[in-house]
Amino acid sequence: MVEKYVFGSPFETEAVTEQIMAKTDVTTIVCGEIVVEDGFYYQYHMEETDVIYGLGEANRGINKRGYQYVSRCTDDPNHTEDKTSLYGAHNFIVLSGKQHVGLFFDYPSTICFDIGYTRQDLLTVRCDHADLYLYVITGESVYDVVKQFRKIIGTSYIAPKYAFGFGQSRWGYKTAEDIETVVQKYRENQIPIDMVYLDIDYMQDYKDFTVNAERFPAFGQFVQKMKGEQIHLIPIIDAGVKIEKGYDIYEEGVEKGYFCKREDGSEFVASVWPGWTHFPDVLNPEARAWFGGKYEILTNLGIDGFWNDMNEPAIFYSEEGIRALNQAISEHVKTFGVDKMIDNPDAIPFDARGILEQIQNNPEDYKRFYHNVNGKMVRHDLVHNLFGFNMTRAAGEALKKIAPDKKMLLFSRSSYIGMHRYGGIWTGDNQSWWSHILLNLKMMPSLNMCGFLYTGADLGGFGSNTTRDLLLRWLALGVFTPLMRNHTALGTREQECYQFEQIADFRHVIGVRYRLIPYLYSTYIKAANQNDMYFRPLGFDFPEDRRAIETEDQLLLGDEAMIAPVYTQNVSGRTVYLPEEMQFVKFMPDGTIYKETLPSGTHYVEIALNEVPLFIRKGKCIPVVDVAQSVDAIDMSTIKYLGYDNATYTIVE
Ligand code: GLC
Repeated sequence: MVEKYVFGSPFETEAVTEQIMAKTDVTTIVCGEIVVEDGFYYQYHMEETDVIYGLGEANRGINKRGYQYVSRCTDDPNHTEDKTSLYGAHNFIVLSGKQHVGLFFDYPSTICFDIGYTRQDLLTVRCDHADLYLYVITGESVYDVVKQFRKIIGTSYIAPKYAFGFGQSRWGYKTAEDIETVVQKYRENQIPIDMVYLDIDYMQDYKDFTVNAERFPAFGQFVQKMKGEQIHLIPIIDAGVKIEKGYDIYEEGVEKGYFCKREDGSEFVASVWPGWTHFPDVLNPEARAWFGGKYEILTNLGIDGFWNDMNEPAIFYSEEGIRALNQAISEHVKTFGVDKMIDNPDAIPFDARGILEQIQNNPEDYKRFYHNVNGKMVRHDLVHNLFGFNMTRAAGEALKKIAPDKKMLLFSRSSYIGMHRYGGIWTGDNQSWWSHILLNLKMMPSLNMCGFLYTGADLGGFGSNTTRDLLLRWLALGVFTPLMRNHTALGTREQECYQFEQIADFRHVIGVRYRLIPYLYSTYIKAANQNDMYFRPLGFDFPEDRRAIETEDQLLLGDEAMIAPVYTQNVSGRTVYLPEEMQFVKFMPDGTIYKETLPSGTHYVEIALNEVPLFIRKGKCIPVVDVAQSVDAIDMSTIKYLGYDNATYTIVE
C-alpha cells in the first residue's frame, strides 16, 4: 500500500508519475513520528535487527545503518569512507524488520539521513524547510516494498543493446588518431569492444555541441568510419555553456533568457572546464527543450549516445568566490606575513590553508542563482538536487523526438529519482583502490531500488594509477554491470586493456561479458519492464536467513544467478556464503567452463586473476553464446544453456 502525505508547499519534482491523493496534517505514520517545527523532522527507533536499505548512490554498505548521509548532489572526486554526499540524491529508504516500510522523501534540497550515527538506535531524517511529499509504502517484504515504489516512479530507461558491450574511455584522447589507435589496438588484440568515449578534449575550447575541427577533421565521416568498425563514439556534454562572443549557443541562450539568472536578472556566471560559463535553466521547460534540441547537432553527425557531466552542477568558483579568496589571502598575508606563510605554513590555521577548497562547490554560490519555473523564480539551492535530473531529461526528451524509434545511450553523473526514466548513471570519479571495487558492488542494488538500472563504475578506477591485477578483478565485476566502461583521468597511468602484459587475460575476461550479453540484456529488459531489480542483496530473497542479510559482498543477479567477485589484492580466491545449493561456474581462460555443485553453507572458492566466477541458482540455467568482437556480431545460433539440467530461460529483448 502506498500513502502520500503533504507538508507545506512542496516543489513538484516529478519524481513520481502515479497520481496519488495526498493526506495532510500527519504526525505519526505506520513507523515513526514526524515533527514540523522549524523545518521537518522524522524519527524512528530502530530495533537491533532492523536493516535500513536504500539511498541509491551513497557511500558505505547495503545496510545503511551506522552512519549519516546527506542528499546534496556534490562533485567530490574523493569517495573516502567519511564522505556523506556523492553526485546523486536518492531519498528512498526501506526499514526492514518486523515490518517493511518504504519512505520516499520527495524534497529537492539538502536533506540529512542520520541512520544510527548520533545515537545507534535512532533513525532521523531532517531538512530545513517543511515543504515536501512523503510517500509511505508498506508491504510484505522489502522486495515487495521496492516493487511498489518502482511502480509509482515509472518505468526505467532502457539502453540500446550495443550499450551492453564494453567501452573504453580516457580523459586525454585528444585527436581522431588517438581514438583510432585505441580501436585498432582493441581490434588487433581481439579484445571485444563496442564503444569509445569522447571526453571534453573533442570539443572546441570545451564548448558544448562543438567539435574541434583541427583535431577531429570531418567528424561526421569519422563517426561513420568508426561505425563501420562496429564502434559507437559517445561524446560527453557538460552542464556549463561557455561565455564567448560569437558562440551561437551562448548567444542564443542569452537572447532567449534560457540561462540561470541572479536576483537582479543578469546571468549567473560560474567557472568550470571552459572557463566562465552560464548554466542552462533546465528546470524551465522551454529552456530544457531548447538545450535538449542541441543534441541534434551531434545526432545529425551519426552520434547515438551521450554522457552528461558536471551537472550537480559543479562550480570551480564564482566571481564572488575569487573576491573572497583574494580578500582572505590578503588578510592572511597581512596577519601572518608572506615569509611566515612560505617558511612556516604549519603555523597558519587550517581554515586559512583550506581556503581554495572553500570556493569550490560553495553552498553560498548555489544561493546566487534562480530557475524560472512557470514564471516563478525559484532559488537554486532550494531545488539543487534536480539539476542533473533535468539536464538529462532535456536530452532524453529531445532524443525521443529526434529519433522516436531508436534507443539511444544516455547516462549522467548527477541525478535525482525520476531521472531513471530518461537515462542511467555512472558513479563518478572513483579511485584505483581495491575498496572501490567493493563500494561499486554495494551501490548497485541500492541504485536499482531507486530505478537506476543502467549503471556502472569507472572500471580500473578514475583517479590515481591502476595496476594490472586491480583492473582484471574490477573487470570481472564489470562483466555483470549493465554499464561496462574502463575510464580514467588525465595524467594517470594508461589503463586500456592492451597496456598490460598477458593481454590474453583481458581478452578472455571481456570475452566472457560478450558470451553473457544475451542473458544480461534480457535480464535487464525484464527488470525494466517489470519494475524489478537487476541486482538484489541476498536478504531480499532469503529474508529469514540472517547470514544472507548480512552478506554484502555478493549479489543476486536476475532470478538465476549470484555474483561474488574478488575485491582484495594478492589472493587466489575468496569465501562465499551460499544460502541454498548453487552451481559454482568459472569461465576459464581456455574457453571452457568449470562447474561444481556446492551445497548451501560457507565455501572457500579459488578464483585466479584470469577467471570469471558466477553462481547459478538451484534449478536455474542461463544462456551463453560464443565470444564475439562486438554486440552486433553475436551469433545467437551458438546458444547453449549453463546450469541445472532441464531448467529453462526465456530471452526477452
Ligand atoms: C569529471 C568527470 C570525469 C571526466 C572529467 C573531464 O571529473 O567525472 O569522468 O573525465 O570530468 O571531463
